[in-house]
Amino acid sequence: MSLARFPRDFLWGGALAANQAEGGYREGGKGLTTVDMIPHGANRMAVKLGQEPRFTLRDDEYYPSHDAIDFYHRYKEDIALMAEMGFTVFRTSIAWSRLYPRGDEAEPNPEGIAFYRALFEECKKHGIEPLVTLCHFDVPMHLVVEYGSWRNRKMVAFFTRYARTCFEQFDGLVKYWLTFNEINILLHSPFSGAGLVFEAGEDQEQVKYQAAHHELIASALATRIAHEVNPHNQVGCMLAGGNFYPYSCKPDDVWAALQKERENLLFIDVQARGAYPAYAASLFREKGVTLIKEPGDDEVLKHTVDFVSFSYYASRCASADMNAGNTSAANVVKSLRNPHIKVSEWGWGIDPLGLRITMNTLYDRYQKPLFLVENGLGAVDEVNEQGEIEDDYRIGYLREHISAMGDAIDDGVPLLGYTSWGCIDLVAASTGEMSKRYGFVYVDRNDAGKGTLARRRKKSFWWYKKVIASHGEDLA
Ligand code: BG6
Repeated sequence: MSLARFPRDFLWGGALAANQAEGGYREGGKGLTTVDMIPHGANRMAVKLGQEPRFTLRDDEYYPSHDAIDFYHRYKEDIALMAEMGFTVFRTSIAWSRLYPRGDEAEPNPEGIAFYRALFEECKKHGIEPLVTLCHFDVPMHLVVEYGSWRNRKMVAFFTRYARTCFEQFDGLVKYWLTFNEINILLHSPFSGAGLVFEAGEDQEQVKYQAAHHELIASALATRIAHEVNPHNQVGCMLAGGNFYPYSCKPDDVWAALQKERENLLFIDVQARGAYPAYAASLFREKGVTLIKEPGDDEVLKHTVDFVSFSYYASRCASADMNAGNTSAANVVKSLRNPHIKVSEWGWGIDPLGLRITMNTLYDRYQKPLFLVENGLGAVDEVNEQGEIEDDYRIGYLREHISAMGDAIDDGVPLLGYTSWGCIDLVAASTGEMSKRYGFVYVDRNDAGKGTLARRRKKSFWWYKKVIASHGEDLA
């Protein structure tokens, strides 16, 4: 178990995202975003993947983001609960369409700015540092319908205008910023990841990598603007992390795993090292992708991030034949089922040592401080007759992962902080369920959107409070 290895200024906390927590989807002048169009139920996956266009809401579908857990109205109560646990950092995202309801307006929506200013002030009041993602799986729908979202270069200007607004309006309140949540997920879930809807017969690989190029340019420009607005700003990229292990030591499997690693890390390589890596040329050749770049793009990409943030839920496994065994899709990334590790109720691998491996790999590669901004166990919780939630399984998962994180720090990896995912139960991104819970705080709401929304502390709430109070030393 860890002993005094977390630095005293280590940031401890939790994470939510606007689209999975806020609700209030048409309040305060907010425009519709991609996630508002993604239903719960049978059609969900096709819409998320960009295979089934959804440009208007349907009466016969339920959209979990519309009310989510009502953080929009209850944020004061929720921040107070975080403060009670001793959080020193809280990760959330700004809903782009609260500030720019359509996305292409010249001026921001004052009500959106007022909401986030009040939210960040509330954090500061409790001594909690906000860590803010500019784009967490929510593109304004108007930009999707009118411009085709990130396939269109015009998005760079819309995003950087929005980013500048955030840096200027929340200057002095927010210091830690992330540009795009899990930028690599765009390859696996193109509509929720980047607002991409495909046309019949279109070369999807070409569209995805071109869209990613636009995001990378936008991210580098936003990083530059953040530093211009305030040199103290710290900007990070964000990876859906988890190393690919070779399924066997067969050289073909090792090579397959290396290729998967590169596919996963390509965008972070650009954001953290300032240029496309050498292997990008062969990767693009193989996929038949020809990037359209503008003069000056290579210069823009040189504005690298200050730190590398990542989510870690599970490691992954690859072989030369990805259809050779059972597969799982933790975090929508296809993987072979690793026979050496257990899985969660949703089939996501549980591999704490994999976290240590991932952290060491990322630091070896980038030599920039890391920030673990998502980690946790999605599980079904039961409220017992006494009204308590005994989530020992979650405590066990977090204990082992925090311990592995401490091991990586001992290995010499600088880590700025830890924000466990879904610190208050929220809507699951993959399935739209409420029953896939991550929180220290239970929210009374079910998969059909029924419930009082009342908050209730789980057993893990008291455990995490103790972990934070002991600076990560007491994990018992
Ligand atoms: C990450 C996302 O992919 O994983 C979150 O950044 C998401 O938005 C989290 O919620 C866990 O996935 P899920 O599907 O269990 O909510």
